[in-house]
Amino acid sequence: MPDDLELRFDAARAIAREAGGLARKRFLERPRSQHADMKGPQDYLTATDAEVEELIRDRLLALFPDDAFYGEEGGGSFKRDVWVVDPIDGTANFARGIPHFAASIAFVRDEKVEIGVILDVMQDELYTARRGGGASLNGKPIRVSGLTDARQATVEAGWSSRLPTEAYLSMVGRLKALGFNVRRAGSGTLGIAYVADGRVDAYCELHLNSWDALAGLLVVEEAGGWVNDFLAKEGLRKGNPVLVCTPGLADAVSAATGIGREPV
Ligand code: IPD
Ligand code: CA
Repeated sequence: MPDDLELRFDAARAIAREAGGLARKRFLERPRSQHADMKGPQDYLTATDAEVEELIRDRLLALFPDDAFYGEEGGGSFKRDVWVVDPIDGTANFARGIPHFAASIAFVRDEKVEIGVILDVMQDELYTARRGGGASLNGKPIRVSGLTDARQATVEAGWSSRLPTEAYLSMVGRLKALGFNVRRAGSGTLGIAYVADGRVDAYCELHLNSWDALAGLLVVEEAGGWVNDFLAKEGLRKGNPVLVCTPGLADAVSAATGIGREPV
């Protein structure tokens, strides 16, 4: 008989696929002329974020009514067992017609991520991990790249308006000085997932919220990557700096970003 975590893992995968179907439909039918609403400068909001989050919350709580739920759009509450969800990460991409956005579902028990599921909606790529069970992409095992030389490596450096831009630019300057190729594609969740699959070698951001980070952190850890202690202090509720990378690059990226095992 499956244990309660296996039931949750199965549910998260099925619900991510259903949520992805809705997000895909809304993306494809989105009017060309539509102007997106903004939460603040460079911070997009679409009606689809709330609609998809409601679907995920309703499905999860119907199956696991005693669990807590915490989502980017509607907030929520915390208990020993809590689902942490971003319905559409990469909202600016979604709103501008760029097919690079994802649904992220993490299950946290006793402040430890036990399940991570990420759906790259338009690529139909499902990244999954259960603690101790390895990481997969559409059911096939994945590993981090294993690169050790910054001069061959690519790092995605996430940016948001939550922190001063100067801090971001000086971090990028230090990464470039070490020889990294630096990119930014607008979805922290997918940037982290790409490290797990060896498409990029590191993802860093000076502040990321838990709904963006948690599923990916487990996927990278289970794919053999190095991850910072994101949940330390009040990471679950308030977010933290995030750094994930291939183990051989951890010292270099950590020195360039100031993000070590402990949150800064
Ligand atoms: C944002 C994206 C972005 C990251 C920001 C996030 P949203 O989330 O993940 O890539 O750099 O920190 O807030 O607004 O697309 O859901
Ligand atoms: Ca997000």
